[in-house]
Amino acid sequence: MITEKETVLVTGGAGFIGSHTTVALQEAGYRVLILDNLCNSDVAVLDAIAEITGEAPGFIEGDIRDRALLDEVFANHRIDAVMHFAGLKAVGESSAEPLSYYDNNVNGSLQLLQAMQRASVRTIVFSSSATVYGEPQSLPLTESHPRSATNPYGHTKLVVEEMLESLHASEAGWRVARLRYFNPIGAHGSGRIGEAPQGTPNNLLPYVAQVATGRRTEVQVFGADYDTPDGTGVRDYIHVLDLADGHVAALAYCRRTHNELLTVNLGTGKGHSVLEMIAAFEQASGKQVPYKIVARRPGDIAQCWADTEKAYRLLGWRASRTLSEMCEDAWRWEQSRGGVEAAGK
Ligand code: NAD
Ligand code: UFG
Repeated sequence: MITEKETVLVTGGAGFIGSHTTVALQEAGYRVLILDNLCNSDVAVLDAIAEITGEAPGFIEGDIRDRALLDEVFANHRIDAVMHFAGLKAVGESSAEPLSYYDNNVNGSLQLLQAMQRASVRTIVFSSSATVYGEPQSLPLTESHPRSATNPYGHTKLVVEEMLESLHASEAGWRVARLRYFNPIGAHGSGRIGEAPQGTPNNLLPYVAQVATGRRTEVQVFGADYDTPDGTGVRDYIHVLDLADGHVAALAYCRRTHNELLTVNLGTGKGHSVLEMIAAFEQASGKQVPYKIVARRPGDIAQCWADTEKAYRLLGWRASRTLSEMCEDAWRWEQSRGGVEAAGK
């Protein structure tokens, strides 16, 4: 429990994971200041957060690559810690436009860390990804599994992980958490905030949700010939609210330790196949979700799920929400959006 309100600068706080984490931070007693350039989000999310928590987060529209703006933010606000979500995340797009991924994700993180260093703010929680494990050599994936990347997006996460490690080793006082997310899905139970991909969703769950509303005709299942129980890809899906709670726990850990470099998985430890996910969504929504088996998507791995013991041991955190809750909350959100095209904008 905190006695005096501390302020967390949340980069990318208007996005999917950042908005849910902002709610969790406010509910835990922190003040939040969001910095977001709205390239993949809508300013309306701020009102939704205020409705949920009773308190509007601070908001600055701007880019993490803007050095002058960052200096101004740190000079004008007493920032105690940074949660860094801002970045681009579409794997396919990262192969088509690698330089914008290196610019946003690597250069953006570099600018942010330099500004933090200038302002002597040395606590950062970073959004990493299970993508840094590459093709799993063993399951479940522990944090010591070798790292590799198969696409520019994954490379940017690896580079920023390394950058944080070098910085932490070079200067006393840094408290760094690198959180490796598995597959976040779901939405806030209010139906007021959720995932709002623009155009055709890249990820499975938003696509399934749009088929359930009738906005798209069928799910394309990318491969049914993997070495998995039903042949389709298996992933560790985690409710975004559990993920948000994991961030609050990681920040609390950083606050009570000194000079820490924390690297943990945020997952449930359980894998579900594509066909299981479609069936779970049909159950939660009461709608049919037609699907068609098509070729594998290049670059996909067969299966992955997290070893969750380290997160539990160090943070006392475990995911608790069920797959049904994830699908029910995603469905409520999808319906509240009314199937509007590009609701993210
Ligand atoms: P999102 O696109 O919904 O949110 C990212 C936010 O950052 C958006 O609001 C966007 O407008 C903002 N942003 C992007 N570039 C910016 C910049 N240069 N300056 C300021 N704001 C900028 O994505 P998300 O799903 O909430 O992901 C958040 C973070 O978590 C990302 O770093 C992503 O790589 C990482 N991550 C996501 C997943 C996932 O499946 N969603 C999995 C692993 C890791
Ligand atoms: N899938 C389909 N049809 C679709 C979309 C996906 O069959 O339309 C399958 C994929 O082949 C995979 C599973 O559903 O087997 C999950 O795919 P997602 O695209 O939802 O998620 P990924 O596991 O491929 O990747 C996600 C994020 C990455 C992140 C990774 C970390 O998109 O950014 O999780 O675990 F790095």
